[in-house]
Amino acid sequence: MLTNNSNHILDKFQVSVSKDWAFSDSRSTNNLTHGYHRYPAKFIPQIVQKLIETYTVEGDKIVDVFAGCGTTLVESKIHGRRSEGVDINPVAQLITKAKINPINPRVLDTEIKKVLLAIKSFNPANDKMIEKHPRIDYWFESEAKQKIAFLYEIILDIEKEKVRDFLLCGLSNIFKNCSKWLQSSTKPQVDPDKKISEVFFSFEFQIKRMQKKNNEFYETLKASGLLRSSCSIKLADARKTKIRSNSANAIITSPPYVTSYEYADIHQLTGYWFDYISDITSFRKDFIGTFYSNNRDFETQVPIARDIVDKMMPISKKKAGEIANYFNDMYNVAKEMHRILLPGGVVCLVIGNTMVKDVEIKSAEGFAEILSQQGFEIEEVIKREIPTKLIPTIRDTKTGKFTTLDNKDKKFVYPEEFIIIGRKLV
Ligand SMILES: C[S@@+](CC[C@H](N)C(=O)[O-])C[C@H]1O[C@@H](n2cnc3c(N)ncnc32)[C@H](O)[C@@H]1O
Repeated sequence: MLTNNSNHILDKFQVSVSKDWAFSDSRSTNNLTHGYHRYPAKFIPQIVQKLIETYTVEGDKIVDVFAGCGTTLVESKIHGRRSEGVDINPVAQLITKAKINPINPRVLDTEIKKVLLAIKSFNPANDKMIEKHPRIDYWFESEAKQKIAFLYEIILDIEKEKVRDFLLCGLSNIFKNCSKWLQSSTKPQVDPDKKISEVFFSFEFQIKRMQKKNNEFYETLKASGLLRSSCSIKLADARKTKIRSNSANAIITSPPYVTSYEYADIHQLTGYWFDYISDITSFRKDFIGTFYSNNRDFETQVPIARDIVDKMMPISKKKAGEIANYFNDMYNVAKEMHRILLPGGVVCLVIGNTMVKDVEIKSAEGFAEILSQQGFEIEEVIKREIPTKLIPTIRDTKTGKFTTLDNKDKKFVYPEEFIIIGRKLV
């Protein structure tokens, strides 16, 4: 049963699309370090930029509890705000570390030249046994495997941590192209006919592209005196971070969707190579919104969520459980965000709704209700259209996951999302 508060929240979502937040004709979303590494459902930097400019002032502290590839942190740094992020995914942490830590261009150039020179000494005949997870053999041809192992060893020997992270991030981003993974898919799927890219060529190309961006980022920050502004990323669960209580002026974040992207699976190539994963089942378990959740508890304290769970129950008990689990996880995240924010602090949450088995999963409305239950005032709800080039628009009607055109169960979804602005009551 929906309550008066639920209806009040739902009313707030009856807004028309705001043209001010579309950014359809914006410049690239890959400026500075933003394009170092592909990452599903990442923010476009322009949204974060506008939120930072609207809701914070210089010197404020901004937190992102689902930091992903670090868009909020990079933009905070550029704008002279202190920032702290967490994500449960070690690949996200690696990418973010590389993106927020610009390297002196002279130092980077010297280190890159050393690595490129070392590549010339590669001799497959000299190679030793590579002891890696067996899944590496499933995804990589033996020559690619030898070359990646060779690069990985060289990079791990580099003393300067920032350079090491930069090169590991670059290496990670070529794994998809250099493996049998179906290029157009975020799902782990082998393409038997794939034209696989050569490792050393791809690596050099990737690193040189990143080097140019690093140099621009470094010079931009240097010119504005922001090179040393405080910015950090930690591996942690958004439901229980170690971020200090009452410390942030703003939280700018976008939570995972319910059962859409399996980040643990999507990033398995890097996970296996860099030894983040020994067993994929336990690696997946702390990711919120995962399809693999084993929840048997269909209860939720959020009336809007309960309504969705009730609608799903006769269609799929398993999905109903996943949805209840998702909202219960979000309940704990909202509690944590409330703890972290200063009284009067603001949470800016970018979130879209989705359809699973023809039931609309109103994640945005559900999250807004959770925020209001936790002591936030919903100050504004903004509806924005997402330019179709930025996100997949086709979903599988059975699973709700993003899919490809050749799937017979596909359905087009209209790319819209909400920005919820909630204020922690004083
Ligand atoms: C929509 S993405 C965020 C993308 C980010 N805004 C960006 O620009 O890259 C959601 C993120 O939530 C993370 N995540 C999932 N479960 C989590 C948890 N329990 N704690 C922290 N992060 C989690 C995923 O790893 C993913 O990076």
